[in-house]
Amino acid sequence: MKRRVVPKISGLIYGGDYNPEQWPEQVWHEDMALMKKAGVNLVTICVFAWSRIEPRPGEYDFDWVHRLMDLLAENGIFACLANATASPPHWMARLYPESLPVDAEGRVYYPGSRQHYSVTSRDYRRHVAALTREFARRFAGHPALAVWHVNNEYACHMPYCMSENTAAAFRAWLRERYGTLDALNEAWGTTFWSQIISDWEEILPPRKAPTQLNPALQLDYHRFIHQATLECYLAEKEILQAATPDIPITTNFVGLMKSLDYMEWGRHVDFVAWDSYPDPNGGLDESVLNALAHSWMRGCGRGQPWVLMEQVTSQVNWRPVNSLKPPGMMRLHSYQALAHGADGIMFFQWRASRFGGEKFHGAMVPHVGPERSRIFREVCELGQELKTLAVLQGSTVDSSVALMMDAQNRWALELGSKPSNRLNGVTEPLHFFRALWQNAIPVEIVGTDHDLSRYRVLVVPTLYLMTQATAQRLRDYVQAGGTLIVSYFSGIVNEHEQIQLGGYPAMLRDVLGLWVEEWQPLPEGVQKTLRLNATGQILRAHTWCDLLHVEGAEVLATYTSDFFAGRPALTRHRFGQGWAYYVATKLEPVDLESWLLNTLAEAGVHPLIPPQEGIEATLRMDQDHRYLFILNHLDQAREVELGTWRGVDLLHGHPVVSKLALPPFGAAVVRLDTLPSP
Ligand code: GLA
Repeated sequence: MKRRVVPKISGLIYGGDYNPEQWPEQVWHEDMALMKKAGVNLVTICVFAWSRIEPRPGEYDFDWVHRLMDLLAENGIFACLANATASPPHWMARLYPESLPVDAEGRVYYPGSRQHYSVTSRDYRRHVAALTREFARRFAGHPALAVWHVNNEYACHMPYCMSENTAAAFRAWLRERYGTLDALNEAWGTTFWSQIISDWEEILPPRKAPTQLNPALQLDYHRFIHQATLECYLAEKEILQAATPDIPITTNFVGLMKSLDYMEWGRHVDFVAWDSYPDPNGGLDESVLNALAHSWMRGCGRGQPWVLMEQVTSQVNWRPVNSLKPPGMMRLHSYQALAHGADGIMFFQWRASRFGGEKFHGAMVPHVGPERSRIFREVCELGQELKTLAVLQGSTVDSSVALMMDAQNRWALELGSKPSNRLNGVTEPLHFFRALWQNAIPVEIVGTDHDLSRYRVLVVPTLYLMTQATAQRLRDYVQAGGTLIVSYFSGIVNEHEQIQLGGYPAMLRDVLGLWVEEWQPLPEGVQKTLRLNATGQILRAHTWCDLLHVEGAEVLATYTSDFFAGRPALTRHRFGQGWAYYVATKLEPVDLESWLLNTLAEAGVHPLIPPQEGIEATLRMDQDHRYLFILNHLDQAREVELGTWRGVDLLHGHPVVSKLALPPFGAAVVRLDTLPSP
């Protein structure tokens, strides 16, 4: 049997956040009937119900949750039960003012909205543990309980806390990490600007200072706050796991959010769940970004099926202008998640609120009620389709190209005082991802510790922070026959933000067969050109130009502009059984696409379908079948060329032979007759 993300649910998961505490109980009965009509099989409950459940410390009112859980069970709907720790009741701040988070300028964040807790607060953690034990004790064995949902979007509003408590916890963490102040001073390079620490108590989190803070301190603080947040999750998880070892436990991730290292956190969830809110006005750029986020999240779950825990049916309420999703777009977004390996599609939220800060946020049941609503109609149609697509459950995404992303690299790269602030941990991977996406080449996102051996090509965009261990893994990968593509400003510092001397990227010089002497960061709007040696074709570049010397590498392209003229801009080097390419500058998207397509073809990687503007293609597979996803991100109908593929439209059962007609924002899944051609 195929692995299910939620063992109690067969087929695909469908549902949303359900906040019945906002409604009289007679509405709950109407909800059950509507949920069945829509095909809902899982609802997330109690996410923001702490003050309703524990109105005074230690005084619990779970009766309504029991009634709700029983009602769900009677109706054959499962609960993704939250332990309600994301929004502490007002009494928490009244009794323990030090549980409130404090920012870099010493400003306290007060109650009145949500997430007003410091992850290092012992009082918060103690009450969280007590509440979680109550949940575990009361609902272990309940027939409706299918998933535990811990907290909610950790760090989304309050990624950092710099309170006195947090400073103390940071010091304790650093003592553990470095053992002695000498080791810490060495790692932090504190002889610079008179920053030598002579007593642990002198260490502060990166609070507001006159100018550039010590970057090694900042980087360690990022690591620390990630760990402190993860500790909260792990403590809650441990309690739940002990009570219900068979019930999966997860928390909802925030995609490309910077403050947490989801690649590490992904090891501690039973399946990855994340919340995706692409801007309906964002066009193709937003489609690509969402595809990158889906891929990143899948990578954080080591390629296993995951759940789209939240999306919106139509409009959110937190952008300056909140555009609706035209007919078909919500379905397209749902199919995009499936195309990237999701086994479940859920929404925030089931019923639109009448009051509170999110009353204008979309829902499966909008304010107008279900009967007359386009949105509810689309929700019901999608629910039916997901039933037909149940065979997808458990299948995984297949790709032979990997792209490396690393949270620690992003933290370091985005600290201040760099040669340019135009490079960051999302734009650089996105630059390569977009080129692959537009050419129908599926990509797997890998971390620095993934098994790389199954990929023909590995792209490593701007891996500014590179540890010895990562450099060794890249070296081994090429040695064994892989094709590695590394881009500019990689391998510059080690894990302490200390420069690797002697010519960049010091640790990969022998693999790449070159050394970088200096670089020219370019302001917005400035272009450079380069010429491909083989064809004479002129390519355009911007943002960054490395000036390098080859020592063994073959020069594929040279700059043609000003004093760079004649210097190498694209190189490749035979190393062991493989090839190591270096991209010294940021190519214009179309130029990157053409160069990358040729380079990938040499490594035996070809587009899944003929590349077509706005058309996304991915492949999911299991032991018996391959499923080709074709998505039309344009608001116009398209006849999509599928090359030599043939198969059956999974939804309608029609045969599909080399072409597929899709309406605006249309999406289809084709069960393929044949294996992909090599
Ligand atoms: C996040 C939260 C939800 C809700 C939505 C609104 O994803 O988890 O509780 O606030 O945003 O878009």
